[in-house]
Amino acid sequence: MEGHGLLVGAILLLCLTHTCYGVLFSSLQHSLVVTASPQQGQLLKAGEDKIEVTWQLNMTFPAGSDSAYKSVKVKLCYAPISQKDRAWRKTNDNLSKDKTCQFTMVAEAYNDAVQTFQWTIARDIPTATYFVRAYALDSQGTQVAYGQTTDGHKTTNLFDIQGISGRHVSLDIASACFSAFSLLALCGFFLAEKRRTKLSHNK
Ligand SMILES: *[C@@H]1O[C@H](CO)[C@@H](O)[C@H](O)[C@H]1NC(C)=O
Ligand SMILES: *[C@@H]1O[C@H](CO)[C@@H](O)[C@H](O)[C@H]1NC(C)=O
Repeated sequence: MEGHGLLVGAILLLCLTHTCYGVLFSSLQHSLVVTASPQQGQLLKAGEDKIEVTWQLNMTFPAGSDSAYKSVKVKLCYAPISQKDRAWRKTNDNLSKDKTCQFTMVAEAYNDAVQTFQWTIARDIPTATYFVRAYALDSQGTQVAYGQTTDGHKTTNLFDIQGISGRHVSLDIASACFSAFSLLALCGFFLAEKRRTKLSHNK
């Protein structure tokens, strides 16, 4: 009977600390070191350009501090300038409500050696300013540690991505202008041709 209560208690505790309870970002261990290939202020194109990301455990952390890390999720995150006036990208310390990092670049098993991967920017990434953040997750899939390419205030090493829809709009405008120009040219040609025929008829 007692054992049963203990089990329920343990499940409840697990539930409270993991699944049911949103973890606070501010409570995570800042133990991962993450770097990404884009230079500060660089402009990359969605669907075309690649980002190379490297992450590893910060070696100044004592051995075994990563014993709970089971997997790593690397995400593309909105920089503050691209969150302004956009509630749907708002940062919340409660990670179950946080909308800073909406795009997963890679999810893989945790490994304490240096990890590197290349990611072609997905075609659905919108035009915005970004940084990269990696979360270490425990066996429950709960965030326990992180690392990011920018500083705590999210002001350094930010890069820009130009989304495909933005490019399509300018392409559409260009083709509309081209069509209008073609139509004008065609009309001009037609009129000139008509006048020429008229002239030759009058001769
Ligand atoms: C985080 O948000 C979830 C969902 O609203 C809530 O259930 C949880 O209690 C919150 N966690 C903290 C630590 O505030
Ligand atoms: C590693 O962690 C230490 C202690 O928190 C910190 O001072 C140092 O800047 C970190 N190193 C890197 C490369 O982030």
